[in-house]
Amino acid sequence: MEQYPGKKNTAVFISGRGSNLKSLIKHSKKKNSLIKIILVISNNEDAEGLKYASRSKIKIYGIKNKSNFENKSLKLLKKYNIDLVCLAGFMKILSGNFIKKFSKPILNIHPSLLPKYKGLNTHERAIKNKDRFAGASIHKVTEKLDSGKVILQKKVKILKSDDVRSLEKKVLKIEHEIYPKAVDKFLTNL
Ligand code: GRF
Repeated sequence: MEQYPGKKNTAVFISGRGSNLKSLIKHSKKKNSLIKIILVISNNEDAEGLKYASRSKIKIYGIKNKSNFENKSLKLLKKYNIDLVCLAGFMKILSGNFIKKFSKPILNIHPSLLPKYKGLNTHERAIKNKDRFAGASIHKVTEKLDSGKVILQKKVKILKSDDVRSLEKKVLKIEHEIYPKAVDKFLTNL
């Protein structure tokens, strides 16, 4: 198993575009980053992010079968000696059993200023409620959806001219900026 002294073997779970995966891969290539991305798993075999990962010579697995997604993933996490899982645009909810069995840290990025707006349609809700700010949060994954300890979050002003699309674009930029920072911050304080 390829080990990079000091770098944690990391797996990233995705479901689609993988723009957060891209920023994590770019970060992992930096000498002083604390992660080495070894594995990318998607519940969608056609996920765009899988293509990007494979071009970066990272092991990729698309597991579309819902019933054995978790068992197959657990086997792969063990096989590749993974220390940390990062969920990045991953649209499935992992079971408590999976979290317990993996037993090492799982992080997720959520496009809201948690604890506000857990779940879906975060930007729509923020606009509808005339919030002044939106943002993104990286948090530890626990059995309760979007409720784990927040590691890092960053906010952005919601302008009168913003709609869901423009806000999503602004927040996505923040996501790409803070996920790598959050991973290193989390691992430094381990
Ligand atoms: C992002 O908005 C992220 O916050 C959410 O999924 C969306 C897509 O992410 N979790 P990506 O481009 O697939 O990383």
